Amino acid sequence: MHVIGGTASTALAERISRELGNAPFGIPFTKRFPDDEMYVRVGGRLEGEDVVLVQSTRTDNDFLELILLEDAVREAGARRTFVVVPYFGYARQDRRFFPGEPVSARALCRHVELDADAVVTVDLHSSQTLTQFTKPAFEASGIPAIARLLAERSLDLLVSPDKGGVDRVRRMAQLLDKPWFALEKRRIDSEHVELSLPSSVPMSVEGKNVALIDDVISTGGTIVEAAKLLKKKGAVGISAACTHGLFLKDAFERIKAVVGDVYSTDTLGNPAEKASVAPDIAQILQRLVVG
Ligand code: R5P
Repeated sequence: MHVIGGTASTALAERISRELGNAPFGIPFTKRFPDDEMYVRVGGRLEGEDVVLVQSTRTDNDFLELILLEDAVREAGARRTFVVVPYFGYARQDRRFFPGEPVSARALCRHVELDADAVVTVDLHSSQTLTQFTKPAFEASGIPAIARLLAERSLDLLVSPDKGGVDRVRRMAQLLDKPWFALEKRRIDSEHVELSLPSSVPMSVEGKNVALIDDVISTGGTIVEAAKLLKKKGAVGISAACTHGLFLKDAFERIKAVVGDVYSTDTLGNPAEKASVAPDIAQILQRLVVG
């Protein structure tokens, strides 16, 4: 099996290759033509091989690079291509909220799977999106990686900043054997949210060390508001953990102003990247190769 890391996921791809028993690992050559069109070239002997192509699609360029790499791998004669998209961009537009909008997640699924034999991703905004793929598609979870990290910290309570994260925080709480609850979130616009405690909070946050658990940290608005609310209610220590750390603009600095420790997995490169999903992705790939 060969592992190829696109420019958005080089470090994670290398970690995955190590988890796969030091599978041959390569980085494609990329450049821009004078008219700014993208050029990629994969190296190595891929003919008749199983190839794992790893590329998060955080930007439109990342997505385009992935499409070109898939075609290059097929042209190079790979037997099967397993496409790993650690952070699947556009996944949050997983339905038509207003007339005239696309279901962007579905549109991307269709294109990502085009030259793939199977797709592996991590913590989609909604697991329902997996049903948009017509090829075998699998979702690894960032929760075990974050749980391995949080297990070493002294924590009293886990909190999800919104109801959408209930399954996630519940699973993390089971792994860490901690109590949990979810806040109420109202999104005002793409950068502002309003948070409140639910009407029945199972336990007081007074004097507690709390970890906020989310799937994505993007503008940081959710975590900043959640941390402020919990502090107001008497929490003494707040940390924040997510699978996908986008940390747009000055999000990381704004979060660090109100939160002690910030943790994310390595689905995207960022200053909070402290846990790796490589073992969890490799486990799925190993099953795919055999089965
Ligand atoms: C929302 O449903 C997600 O779970 C995250 O809470 C959200 O994407 C975080 O965005 P931001 O960091 O911009 O508040």
